[in-house]
Amino acid sequence: MPLLGVNIDHVATVRQARRTYEPDPVWAAALAELGGADGITLHLREDRRHIADRDLRILRETVTVKLNLEMACNDEIVEIACKTKPDQATLVPERREEITTEGGLDLCRQREKVAAVVRRLEEAGVPVSLFLDPDPRQIEEAARLKVQAVELHTGRYAEARPGPAQLAELENLQAVAAVVRQSGLVLHAGHGLTYRNVIPVARIAEMHELNIGHSIVARAIMVGLETAVREMKRLVEIR
Ligand code: PXP
Repeated sequence: MPLLGVNIDHVATVRQARRTYEPDPVWAAALAELGGADGITLHLREDRRHIADRDLRILRETVTVKLNLEMACNDEIVEIACKTKPDQATLVPERREEITTEGGLDLCRQREKVAAVVRRLEEAGVPVSLFLDPDPRQIEEAARLKVQAVELHTGRYAEARPGPAQLAELENLQAVAAVVRQSGLVLHAGHGLTYRNVIPVARIAEMHELNIGHSIVARAIMVGLETAVREMKRLVEIR
């Protein structure tokens, strides 16, 4: 059964809409844990548009499940990660103008840059996961980098129209997941997963971790975060 990592960035997004102190992602992480989250995920962006340094600092102290820091290959952020030592760093591409992370890292083009960051993090004792498009060429590169895990970008699946188009994206995820497993890498997935589309992805063989943010935080506005997390956890665990 996959672990559920709850991404709390959008709690901070609401706080930053007014540049105030509430809602506090630290509270959100505690409620997510109460709802059964196996991990708390947060993205410290270069532009600090949602999560702030203070959030990461406090969450490192208070989170009792896995703390997963999403981050770009940016010197300042790498330094913060090496000092803060999250339980896992997930390397993602980052562009200032994007609304959310748009695609996976391109290891075919950025291999050396990513390799250097992986080395720094691993030397600091931080295991690394790479956020990659479901493309076997990217997985081959990841295996050469000897990272611990790969998070498959599920955005194309999530955006596909339900029916044959979505099924084709699911089949591609399943095929690439097999390549991840055969490469000896731990399999994660995330982006765009919702209460409606999560089950087939959660059922992919040996899926170890799903990272889900927007859909859970959106539901939390209606039903509360603890309940929203519990409902997602139940879906993720359906066999
Ligand atoms: N995984 C990664 C690497 C991400 O960048 C994001 C978005 O921050 C997510 C998972 C969660 O995506 P969503 O908010 O669409 O659930």
